[in-house]
Amino acid sequence: MSVLVTGGAGFIGSHTCVELLNSGEEIVVLDNFCNSKPEVLDKIRQLTGKDFKFYEVDLLDPDGVEKVFAENDIEIVIHFAGLKAVGESVQKPLKYYHNNITGTLILCEAMKRHNVKKIVFSSSATVYGNPHTVPIKEDFPLSTTNPYGSTKLMLERILTDLNVADPEWNVTLLRYFNPIGAHKSGLIGENPNGIPNNLMPYICQVANGTLPRLNVFGDDYPTPDGTGVRDYIHVVDLAVGHVKAVERARELDGVNIYNLGTGTGYSVLDIVKAFEKANNLKIPYVIAPRRAGDIPACYADPTKAKEVLGWEAQYGIEEMCRDSWNYMLKQKEN
Ligand code: WQD
Repeated sequence: MSVLVTGGAGFIGSHTCVELLNSGEEIVVLDNFCNSKPEVLDKIRQLTGKDFKFYEVDLLDPDGVEKVFAENDIEIVIHFAGLKAVGESVQKPLKYYHNNITGTLILCEAMKRHNVKKIVFSSSATVYGNPHTVPIKEDFPLSTTNPYGSTKLMLERILTDLNVADPEWNVTLLRYFNPIGAHKSGLIGENPNGIPNNLMPYICQVANGTLPRLNVFGDDYPTPDGTGVRDYIHVVDLAVGHVKAVERARELDGVNIYNLGTGTGYSVLDIVKAFEKANNLKIPYVIAPRRAGDIPACYADPTKAKEVLGWEAQYGIEEMCRDSWNYMLKQKEN
């Protein structure tokens, strides 16, 4: 039986495919390449020495999704496929709701038809909104401030309702904090199209001269140095968390929710300094106005994932910064 990885050519998806294959899982990958590239698939094969079936399918294509389930013996689905740019979601809410919600409904309908009722869902710490305190536990209040975050919260509720209606539905909700870094080989990593929204890819483009300087969005937050604090987690740690979640889903029923973070918060300026130290280079920056929708601080209490999944982050901020930059350097070489 196989693990179906939707969005498996993406940043987190590709790293998860590597860890799944390395742990002995059989996988089937589905992607529409709207925010990823076909060459990633061979990089996954190169890194693991293993092959897998791939389907270029858009989740909005019911016939394409049906074909994947009809042709493969799927045991569990890890569902990454979805649009994830916060700013774009504010500009294009219909695109985000249609793609992320309708796509997931089509996926779940195909799962139901084929009696596949185990799903690990790529959720996000964004469902916590602006937390009343930190670190954040899984039972904290949920609220969202942008359409992207609302699709994640709605999908958590939809999947939970599936379990209420039919307890055979086994749902794992993984709430990611801030994934950064790359596989140590530099063969796969984060390569967003256009000018990056997120901090680390933006810093990398300043480091390689593509962008002139970093704009630090506000230094007047109630944080140690006034800049935003986040829980940055190495993407390989995040990928391993999915392997553990798949293994646990074979033993646990119901709806299980886990924060996948390190439990340590770093400010924007902490990240700039760590990147400069890890890679021995300077990152010019200016203090700019706050970005709409940003919150002061967000970092996880990862105790539950440690106790129930037997998982905790292994990599520190230096490796995250070094691996992010190493990936960018390898991209330049190729
Ligand atoms: C991090 C910090 C910014 C860029 C978002 C989504 C979340 C997840 C990760 C998908 C903040 C500051 C950033 C820049 C800056 N995405 N910053 N200058 O906003 O915490 O989370 O991405 O799942 O769901 O909400 O990540 O990397 O955009 O920002 O000063 O050019 O860096 O203000 O404090 P964020 P980010």
